[in-house]
Amino acid sequence: MERALSRRGRLLVPSYAKVNLGLEVLGLREDGYHELRTIFQTISLRDDIVLTLRRGGVSVRCDKPGVPGDGTNLAARAALELARFARVPADVGIEIVKRIPVAGGLGGASSNAAAVLLGLDRLWRLGLGPAGLQPLARRIGADVPYFLMGGTALGLARGDEVYPLHLQVRAQVVVAAPDRPLSTAAVFRRVEACLTPRENSYRIYRFVSRDLEGEGGYSLLSNDLETAALEEAPDLAEKVRRIRRILVRGGARLALMSGSGSSVYGLFDDARRAERVRLALCEAGVSAFRGRTLTRDQYRKVWARALGL
Ligand code: C5P
Repeated sequence: MERALSRRGRLLVPSYAKVNLGLEVLGLREDGYHELRTIFQTISLRDDIVLTLRRGGVSVRCDKPGVPGDGTNLAARAALELARFARVPADVGIEIVKRIPVAGGLGGASSNAAAVLLGLDRLWRLGLGPAGLQPLARRIGADVPYFLMGGTALGLARGDEVYPLHLQVRAQVVVAAPDRPLSTAAVFRRVEACLTPRENSYRIYRFVSRDLEGEGGYSLLSNDLETAALEEAPDLAEKVRRIRRILVRGGARLALMSGSGSSVYGLFDDARRAERVRLALCEAGVSAFRGRTLTRDQYRKVWARALGL
């Protein structure tokens, strides 16, 4: 496999989306970021990243508009940072096949960056592994370290301190993506304006420490960024209300905005029910995706296969 990799100098790596199963904003930090408490959850919606070793620096190509092709793209930054760190020439072509909605609160750009780190670690034979890549990942973006781990994980500090949870959520997921990109930075700036520190809020800890099957587990969860997101995009309020209604009526056990929005997802116990809801959303003119959650083990296995480990 080693020889095959180096001969071809090409690798296709999966890059999964996440949703936040609850997100608490606890305060403004001295570094300008916000102190968070969240549960990250990988879902089966994915981009594909094709890495090709070739001379001429780092280039990014993507089939979707709205994805920068220059050094501001987190995938390009990941390649540049890793090359500098490992003292190797930054020569790679990055092709992104986009399925994850852009600026939709699903972590697409951060996931792409993590995929580039893991893929190039392999192609450049650096042997750093997810643990060795963590410090670099943190420099690239607050959500990037999570994507080196995957599954159900607790995110603290800027969201970049991630802890694997024993609890691994297994559910069907429907993601509704209003066609309305939202800037994470702009949404967080709104939070600043109306920040109420809630040091006494322990809903997420309560959630992870109780049996998920127990009644009402999911009802503990909410997303503190939702108000800020709807202040940033008041035009979205009605659509989000409509989406939530369809998700809840369709039997969602949890229906929340993901991250800084604008995507709204629902968790379901069975695939048929989830499919009915996806169809109802499409009929209402909202693009929707149906898939499932991925546990940490499933995430690791997909990665091991992709990297030929
Ligand atoms: O780290 P990332 O580039 O994903 O964050 C985008 C922006 O979101 C940051 O520049 C910051 O303004 C805001 N942010 C924040 N607190 C966090 C994470 C992100 O204020 N914990």
